[in-house]
Amino acid sequence: MTDTEITDVKGRRVWDSRGRPTVEVEVTLAPGVKGRAIAPAGASTGTGEAVDLRDGGDTFGGYDVTRAVGSVNKDIRDCLIGMDADAQWAIDKAMIECDGTPNKARLGGNAIVATSMAVLHARAAAEKLPLWRYLAAGNPVRMPLPEIQIFGGGAHAARRVDIQDFMVMAPAAASFAEALDWTAEIYRAAGLFMKQTGRLQGVADEGGFWPAFKTNEEALDALVHAIEDAGFKPGTDVGISLDVAASEFGSRDNYQLTLDDRKLDTSGMLDLLAGWLRDYPILSIEDPVAEDDTEGFIAFTAQHGKICQVIGDDFFVTNAGRVRASIDAHSANAVLIKLNQAGSVTEAKEALRVASEAGYGTIVSARSGETEDLTIAHLAVGWNAGQLKVGSFARSERMAKWNECLRIEEEMGSSAAFAGRSALPFT
Ligand code: PGA
Ligand code: ZN
Repeated sequence: MTDTEITDVKGRRVWDSRGRPTVEVEVTLAPGVKGRAIAPAGASTGTGEAVDLRDGGDTFGGYDVTRAVGSVNKDIRDCLIGMDADAQWAIDKAMIECDGTPNKARLGGNAIVATSMAVLHARAAAEKLPLWRYLAAGNPVRMPLPEIQIFGGGAHAARRVDIQDFMVMAPAAASFAEALDWTAEIYRAAGLFMKQTGRLQGVADEGGFWPAFKTNEEALDALVHAIEDAGFKPGTDVGISLDVAASEFGSRDNYQLTLDDRKLDTSGMLDLLAGWLRDYPILSIEDPVAEDDTEGFIAFTAQHGKICQVIGDDFFVTNAGRVRASIDAHSANAVLIKLNQAGSVTEAKEALRVASEAGYGTIVSARSGETEDLTIAHLAVGWNAGQLKVGSFARSERMAKWNECLRIEEEMGSSAAFAGRSALPFT
């Protein structure tokens, strides 16, 4: 028996930031070392994602996960006991084969991804290393540039505005800690602005202010206002990052902007975004068009890829094959990395590897349904992704990740490098 042999796998039901059930897994290795992780859950999911196994029916709105927890405690446990946690790829492959479906529907993407992450945590614990340091394996790594939400819209705010995330990035900050300092001032200024203009109505799913705006442009204006009010230069110190999440309100040649009561074809959508890029200090746009609109992605990247990060989220669903196809087609220049879209650590890492080898930006990302699980903070650093997207600057399922990065930066001491501007895939 090796020190990294898996001796136990245990699943349990816990609760996420939306008060919905989710899967937690605890993996034990031979010397009694444990690793634990919790599956997150999306709301604006891409159709190509690994799917969560939910019970359906009436209990908890159909979101219960007793079947997924059952997968962990029976099929997955039977499959992994006796395996070596050192071989993450063999473990993930064994679960994929045991599941037997193309989208992890039988055992559940939630069951598989939580187990995969728990194995990784156990492996790092066996080495007595923090996860980020275990993943870095002695290679130099940078603290990620954070993308932080100020207003939350789309599927996370009952479609109060069409655009899902209005975020800021502080590439000119000198450190991760300073980027958070700046964002804290901007978030506060935005809150004050909302209050003073009678718009303060609480927060959306990821902690950004509820977007009580009449148009999408009003939200962009408010964001610029908040950056300036906090004492920063828009575009130079702090830029805007948008997640359009266009699959949520349309498909190729058919985009329905509810707020403006407008219907646009792909070229109309591209014109709208080109106008925003001209008028606002935008550094990054995610899913500018829908997941089925490859031509739209290609056109958008050709027009703006030299001045703007073009991120595929629903478009890539953290799938290495889709990223490879994009490299030939030039359909984006950055990839959002969500572990539960791919469904395992190995598959997500492969998508990140393919993307970064092509010079793409890589952004490790949370989901709108989150928990106290800190895995993504460690992945963003240890995999040297360069960027981290967690949601807003409020609510502890978000702050837990930002705070963990502060601890990591402190632990790095004088050797800590901040990715800053260098994380963006254009000069
Ligand atoms: P989701 O949203 O977790 O609800 O899918 C996050 C995103 O689209 O980036
Ligand atoms: Zn997205």
